[in-house]
Amino acid sequence: MDESFANVYDDERRALAYAGLAFPGTYYLAFRDIPGLLRKHVAGSRALDFGCGAGRSSRFLKEHDFRVTGVDISASMLEHARERDPAGDYRLVRDGDLSGVASAAFDLVFSAFTFDNVPGREARAHLFGELRRVLAPGGRLVNLVSAPEIYVNEWVSFSTRQFQENRVAGSGDRVRIVMLDVPDRRPVEDVLWLEADYRELYARAGLAVLEVHRPLGMDGDPHEWDAETRVSPWAIYVLEEAH
Ligand SMILES: C[S@@+](CC[C@H](N)C(=O)[O-])C[C@H]1O[C@@H](n2cnc3c(N)ncnc32)[C@H](O)[C@@H]1O
Repeated sequence: MDESFANVYDDERRALAYAGLAFPGTYYLAFRDIPGLLRKHVAGSRALDFGCGAGRSSRFLKEHDFRVTGVDISASMLEHARERDPAGDYRLVRDGDLSGVASAAFDLVFSAFTFDNVPGREARAHLFGELRRVLAPGGRLVNLVSAPEIYVNEWVSFSTRQFQENRVAGSGDRVRIVMLDVPDRRPVEDVLWLEADYRELYARAGLAVLEVHRPLGMDGDPHEWDAETRVSPWAIYVLEEAH
């Protein structure tokens, strides 16, 4: 990979900068409506945070009374998670290998931004199958991802105007975005995935879509929004096991 472009999790400095973020700017919108969605859809308190990173999403779930197991492929991110929450249950997994996670054990499987970084259709298909396997009967998978629109607009927390090639990207293509909330302004590379392709993978994995929520900026939010009031930067898929 060109050294000037790196995924945000690839180096320690960025991992630390990311770990320091709570829900600044545009991230506020990603989490603003999650409590309501969880109240509406989830019964029970056992949660798996898939791709917990430095534990931001796990701590959020804990604050909303879930008992959380966080899993991640990055040992350094997990270290930060444990530092911030020494009593927490954070486990290292190998990429694509959730065999150490019990079947039918979770009322909620939560995945926040993890699939923005998973390359490959088959790897995604396999992971969604695994996430379905660990859902308890009646459980819900909440998959919070970047909407394709995030890569072609200007936001409080992100800029993409330098990357016109994002406009013609398809599922599986690399797209670039600059995070404005951290001092390091090198572009972050993500993997684009379009809604039709998410839906295809969900169906293949035996998951049914209950709701797709696209949070928009509103009056009363604690930010002067840019594109956020017109188009949602995030897509929140609420899924259940298909019957
Ligand atoms: C963008 S971070 C999000 C962290 C956290 N969910 C949050 O909201 O702050 C995505 C995380 O997914 C992890 N990840 C990527 N691929 C993964 C996989 N196949 N299995 C588990 N974790 C993965 C990365 O290591 C990274 O920590």
